[in-house]
Amino acid sequence: MTKIPSQERKGKMSVLSLLTMNCNFIKSQISEVLVRGWENYKENVDTAQTVLALALSQYLESNQQEINLKDKKVLEIGAGTGLVSIVASILGAYVTATDLPEVLENLKLNISRNTQNMNTHQPEVRKLVWGEDLNEDFPKSTHHYDFILASDVVYHHTSLDPLLTTMAYLCQPGTVLLWANKFRFSTDFEFLEKLRNILIVTLLAEFPESNIKLFKATYTAFLSRSAS
Ligand SMILES: C[S@@+](CC[C@H](N)C(=O)[O-])C[C@H]1O[C@@H](n2cnc3c(N)ncnc32)[C@H](O)[C@@H]1O
Repeated sequence: MTKIPSQERKGKMSVLSLLTMNCNFIKSQISEVLVRGWENYKENVDTAQTVLALALSQYLESNQQEINLKDKKVLEIGAGTGLVSIVASILGAYVTATDLPEVLENLKLNISRNTQNMNTHQPEVRKLVWGEDLNEDFPKSTHHYDFILASDVVYHHTSLDPLLTTMAYLCQPGTVLLWANKFRFSTDFEFLEKLRNILIVTLLAEFPESNIKLFKATYTAFLSRSAS
């Protein structure tokens, strides 16, 4: 498990400096894209929200040997502004970014703006409302993902059980779920316990002083069967 040193993450400038100082992105084409992307996001996005997407993005970029996304099938749930999907795409994955219908237009715009002219597989943007129409829209026979990415999807809302159902559904044998979460409410801890009842959950990294944790979860026939 990695302990990631604390950084000042409050305020727009410090998030941008986290991006540019800590990521190797600055040394590559990726940095330009992300910094350009950040310029597009920063007027409209809640900074606290983006910190989790940055944490997961940074982890993906820094741990490419352990988590090799190149040519892998990746689906992001609750993609929001799409930062994590953009990074996964730049790291070489076939990305499907999903969210609520009303979010998709902005998500498409952000993703296309930040991946166009890059040598990446063209990301796909699709509706995925947690717990709804999973069998119809993402049939298991044809939709197997290597990685499911989830950043800041668990907070104090009423769709936690449908979210859990969605994670369990998408985590087939061989799938790895990477979930970044800030532990703020009792619901965060309850969700983690429920997730542990259906998938094998491991703590991958934590950001001291910010209560941000990054988990990996995988399918297990015994637990996952009891959830379905
Ligand atoms: C706090 S935002 C996180 C966005 C992004 N992952 C990030 O880290 O910046 C939560 C996201 O979950 C999405 N969401 C909330 N409820 C949902 C539901 N029932 N089905 C699908 N997506 C949902 C929201 O539209 C939003 O994009």
